[in-house]
Amino acid sequence: MPSLPKSDELIFFVNGRKVIEKNAVPEVNLLFYLRKVLHLTGTKYACGGGGCGACTVMVSRFDPKTKKIHHYPATACLVPICSLYGAAITTVEGVGSIKTRIHPVQERLAKCHGTQCGFCSPGMVMSIYTLLRNHPEPTPEQITEAIGGNLCRCTGYRPIVESGKTFCVASTVCQVKGSGKCCMDQEDRSFVNYQEKMCTKLYNEDEFQPLDPSQEPIFPPELIRMAEDTNKRRLTFQGEKTTWITPVTLDDVLELKANFSEAPLVMGNTTVGPNLKFRDAFHPVFISPLGLPELHFVNTTDDGVTIGAGYSLAQLNDALLFTISDQPKEKTKTFYALRKHLRTFAGAQIRNMATLGGHVVSRPKFSDLNPILAAGNATINLISKEGERQIPLNGPFLARLPEANLRPEEMVLSVSIPYSSQWHFVSGLRLAQRQENAFAIVNAGMSVKFEDGTNIIKDLKMFFGNVGATVVSASETCEQLTGRRWDDQMLSDACQWVLDEVYIPPGAEGGMVEYRRTLIISLLFRFYLKVRRGLNEMDPEKFPDIPEKFMSALEDFPIKTPQGIQMFQCVNPRQSPQDPVGHPVMHQSALKHTTGEAVFSDDMPPFSQELFLAVVTSPRAHAKIISIDSSEALALPGVVDVITAEDVPGENNYSGEIFYAQNEVICVGQIVCTVAADTYAHAKEGAKKVKVTYEDVEPRIITIEQALEHNSFLSVEKKIEQGNVESAFKQVDQIIEGEIHVEGQEHFYMETQTVLAIPKKEDKEMVLYLGTQFPTHVQEFVAAALNIPRSRIACHMRRTGGAFGGKMTKPALLGAVCAVAAYKTGHPIRFILERGDDFLITAGRHPLLGKYKIGFMNNGVIKAADVEYYVNGGCTLDESEWVIEFVVLKSENAYYIPNFRCRGRACKTNLPSNTAFRGFGFPQATVVVEAYMTAVASQCNLLPEEVKEINMYKRISQTAHEQTFNPEPLQRCWKECLEKSSFHARKLAAEEFNKKNYWKKRGLAVIPMKFTVGVPVAYYSQAAALVHIYLDGSVLVTHGGCEMGQGLHTKMIQVASRELNIPQSYVHLSETSTITVPNASFTAGSMGTDINGKAVQNACQILLDRLQPIIRKNPKGKWEDWITEAFHKSISLSATGYFKGYQTNMDWETEKGDAFPYYVYGASCSEVEVDCLTGAHKLLRTDIFMDSAFSINPAVDIGQIEGAFIQGMGLYTIEELKYSPEGVLYSRGPDEYKIPTVTEIPEEFYVTLVHSQNPIAIYSSKGLGEAGMFLGSSVLFAINDAVTAARKERGLTETFTLSSPATPEMIRMACVDQFTDMIPKDDPSTFTPWSIQVS
Ligand SMILES: Cc1cc2nc3c(=O)[nH]c(=O)nc-3n(C[C@H](O)[C@H](O)[C@H](O)COP(=O)(O)OP(=O)(O)OC[C@H]3O[C@@H](n4cnc5c(N)ncnc54)[C@H](O)[C@@H]3O)c2cc1C
Ligand code: FES
Ligand code: FES
Repeated sequence: MPSLPKSDELIFFVNGRKVIEKNAVPEVNLLFYLRKVLHLTGTKYACGGGGCGACTVMVSRFDPKTKKIHHYPATACLVPICSLYGAAITTVEGVGSIKTRIHPVQERLAKCHGTQCGFCSPGMVMSIYTLLRNHPEPTPEQITEAIGGNLCRCTGYRPIVESGKTFCVASTVCQVKGSGKCCMDQEDRSFVNYQEKMCTKLYNEDEFQPLDPSQEPIFPPELIRMAEDTNKRRLTFQGEKTTWITPVTLDDVLELKANFSEAPLVMGNTTVGPNLKFRDAFHPVFISPLGLPELHFVNTTDDGVTIGAGYSLAQLNDALLFTISDQPKEKTKTFYALRKHLRTFAGAQIRNMATLGGHVVSRPKFSDLNPILAAGNATINLISKEGERQIPLNGPFLARLPEANLRPEEMVLSVSIPYSSQWHFVSGLRLAQRQENAFAIVNAGMSVKFEDGTNIIKDLKMFFGNVGATVVSASETCEQLTGRRWDDQMLSDACQWVLDEVYIPPGAEGGMVEYRRTLIISLLFRFYLKVRRGLNEMDPEKFPDIPEKFMSALEDFPIKTPQGIQMFQCVNPRQSPQDPVGHPVMHQSALKHTTGEAVFSDDMPPFSQELFLAVVTSPRAHAKIISIDSSEALALPGVVDVITAEDVPGENNYSGEIFYAQNEVICVGQIVCTVAADTYAHAKEGAKKVKVTYEDVEPRIITIEQALEHNSFLSVEKKIEQGNVESAFKQVDQIIEGEIHVEGQEHFYMETQTVLAIPKKEDKEMVLYLGTQFPTHVQEFVAAALNIPRSRIACHMRRTGGAFGGKMTKPALLGAVCAVAAYKTGHPIRFILERGDDFLITAGRHPLLGKYKIGFMNNGVIKAADVEYYVNGGCTLDESEWVIEFVVLKSENAYYIPNFRCRGRACKTNLPSNTAFRGFGFPQATVVVEAYMTAVASQCNLLPEEVKEINMYKRISQTAHEQTFNPEPLQRCWKECLEKSSFHARKLAAEEFNKKNYWKKRGLAVIPMKFTVGVPVAYYSQAAALVHIYLDGSVLVTHGGCEMGQGLHTKMIQVASRELNIPQSYVHLSETSTITVPNASFTAGSMGTDINGKAVQNACQILLDRLQPIIRKNPKGKWEDWITEAFHKSISLSATGYFKGYQTNMDWETEKGDAFPYYVYGASCSEVEVDCLTGAHKLLRTDIFMDSAFSINPAVDIGQIEGAFIQGMGLYTIEELKYSPEGVLYSRGPDEYKIPTVTEIPEEFYVTLVHSQNPIAIYSSKGLGEAGMFLGSSVLFAINDAVTAARKERGLTETFTLSSPATPEMIRMACVDQFTDMIPKDDPSTFTPWSIQVS
């Protein structure tokens, strides 16, 4: 290899400041550089692979050719710093700040309540900001498109879209369907005015600053000069192990390519980057011709369009659009097909980074563009030092056959896409787990050319993605069909032959084998119909149209901009204007979130001599540890220590949880040891070098079924029973039995688990900063691990980027692991789980199996139920016993069944230990209840809603565990939901739709809910607060609750403000800490506001009582005067407030108890449309009616309801964890695990807070953190309704219930038809499946 010159200086700008990096390292990405080198921590890490958008920044470059500045969004985690020479980067800090001026984007996102935990907010700001830089008056569709690559786990997106829509000219946020009318004027909105005192304004638009594009920072003139410099020279950046070369002429690239033929050409880095990071690829040299003008052009000829390889996919999209608008339709069919896929391809950031050349050459097996390009006869124009040549972008090229490939010294100059012709049809077809930003499960590019004026096939092409290791061409089938007519017989043969040719073996990687086989021919069928339609358009006389009923099979669901209305009780006009309670107050940290100034744990500046920790986890589910050899790791530069179980000074196995594996491992992902090093990169390198040898141990239990076989349980059975179940079964008209599976769920909080542990020099003290729902628990575990009294362990928790139950117990385990490392090394330790490790180690929601036997009368009245529940708890107890208790206690949901028996047990398996998750078992268990309600309805020939209503609690009653309650609000929510959603009318309309459409079906479902907050153990709901008043009158509130986005601190400020009768601005709330409030309970179970609110209220009342004599003496005085006076009178201005807790109890012996303090009721109605051909679904509308009693903060409560609903919808529809039969979790990041994006939320989303009384809770409010989760199941049952309609039409009349999640796979395979019938069914005894279900 030729020798390389010394490093050049890397020059770029960040937020208007020049950065000169003399030692640019090729492997370093912009995200790392911003956060760790420039200490701009507003840009967040949440996945590291371009899949979540948390790290979005704006990149701006000057194009010397057009003299224009090009702004585009990019995911900083995939941008190598070396690629930034001459670029200007804008981060959230550069957009605006509280200290100087917040930008309208930041202001509106905050004020529209588009931020909860705030971890996604900087990314959201940057996506919308970049859009506005290019389009100051965007359309609502552009807003939706701009944030399609940004995940948010908290808000449910609706308020984010709404904040963006405030910039749109044509549409204000309260317009429905662009009608130009205010939503409140809509005649068909029957619920308008239904309750006079309802409000709909969660924010005041009049407060917004206008957007003034002229105020934006200018592009640095120096960069313009640099771009225009005609004497540019090659740049070289030399790292420790790698070299980056940026050539400036095409000849230079070709020279380099000739010298370093193995070196990748780094363009968008969206393939090279993830390969380096996640697949351990290594390249000593990178060549980056990204900005080369020769690669950026569009050339239109008579035959087609040639597009430069350096065009980003977004630029490609624009170029295609231009051609489409410029050329007759018949010529642009390939372009149209490409654009259709480009709309859903990744997110806007990736589309702006990835290049055409990079995409074509990297040839991902799931490629969305290559199959279309190949079907459209595209050619690749190559260049090398030897000259230019063309190769076809065809099957052999896509199959990577050596003879069809690029030569090592060649590069792609451009891609030529020919025009289509008159008797020529080209289509792109795809199906993914979610509509946007998800790799296709199967996609295809197809084209057919006919003999002119006929339907005789002259040339047919079919390419399929994600059916094998590469994109596969069905060339033999196509050849065999040449000369045939485009008719049903051709289709039938084509399906048979293509299934033989494009064979997916039963154990194929990626699983879903029968589904993928079905998709191959389903997509083919769609193409067949499209072409028939096209032929008919060309000559209706000769070519009959497709049946009317098949029309809806032609297209995918359109992407629409979601909209909705939120209704809540208005504040009593007599309430003091200063009193914030009941008002939709913005989240306390909202502006800090949107400006990136909110400090999360990893945003804290480095501690002196801090080390980073990387984990070594078990690859085996159950094995003996034979040896751990850390010598190679220790020899690496920067590695300081390897920490194992031997190093734990206290207890390593504490309270049933194991910190470091000792002697054996009991799940894949268990922490075996950790490596501490001076950088994370070194620690990770070290972790890779630790050699652990294992010996498998039997049994290895992964699924609930296996656990039952082995009698493997974590706890004893929990049971409640009422009436006489056995005798009731003898007296009923009918009995049904069934089984429902509900798979698990990953929390996917945006901020991964983070712990900073700082050992103190004195008295073995240890200070921890971390994101947790339960600092007391962390303190307990750390104290046990270090064998130090808890008083010496201080845990600080300021905020965390979402938790949802996942930061309840796991931070204690990770805190102990980290503290042991800090203790052993004596250094502060920064321990941040990478997304993949977080998925693997921390587990999630319990998968559940429900078995039911239901006895009922023919009129739908249920007389008896015998239900068994099993949850997959994983390898340790964690919260599993509680989860099963909650399952059993809450599983009757809203229904009274006089003879009711419910039993539950937590299974012990060799999976990572499952843990708390929003709803705590309720969302899984009640799916089983709704499933048997639906099954009974089917047997009685009634609507599920009728059976639900018949069996619903109607008057003051007792639950099965004999707790008295009044279901009046339940009845109200249910009735209002049915009425205001126009359920019955829409149900009829859906039936009409279904009669007219064979391949698309609509379904509706209404779900009632009786949920409980809190826990059956009284002492867990005690809480304390500490309130200080300072001499200037300012107030500092601390309490035991943790802020993870749910707005707890905001509500506490509202409480303190009301109680002390002072403006909110006087009250400050900084952090939660074991120092200020000892022994605090967890923040979970929807009771954060309830219990901490009472404690804050108590402290404030104590203080106010103390101040009363002074106030009485000087009633007209100011607050500040009273405080000064109180000080002069030696009155203590600090008080501890306390709430003893709700007096709940549960006696499992007698199966009776007042287990919960109160109930929350609700109902939701969802309507979906299902694509029977692909299994996709679209959520058309959701109406939620939630009993909030009195809402302390309607914006926060509605945010919780909407966010939980969308999270629930994810659980029940698209979120799918994939495990190997050996217990290895495959899905470890946003690429493999799909949470909802903005395209999944209801097109119309209506939420109403229903007023009721709840005197037991503070200000008669209710805890609403979890309740919305289960209402997401209305989507599952609406899908079930639609699928049932499809099945009925296909002659399948037996009762059918979908398990959860109702993924596209489940939906498609349930809509049995001629295509599913054609699929070869594999004998399960002949192969090992790639993945298994663990419920
Ligand atoms: C988060 C995410 C989501 C994605 N979603 C989708 C999706 O929905 N659908 C889909 O199809 N794909 C998707 N992709 C894959 C994406 O399409 C490819 O990664 C991308 O197109 C590669 O382009 P690039 O410019 O980034 O290539 P790079 O990563 O820069 O390079 C990739 C390879 O191409 C070579 N190369 C680049 N340019 C040339 C050239 N001119 N001549 C010769 N060789 C060249 C390089 O040597 C390298 O080997 C996704 C990727 C990410 C990270
Ligand atoms: S952290 Fe960069 S996209 Fe997720
Ligand atoms: S606010 Fe979006 S992830 Fe928390």
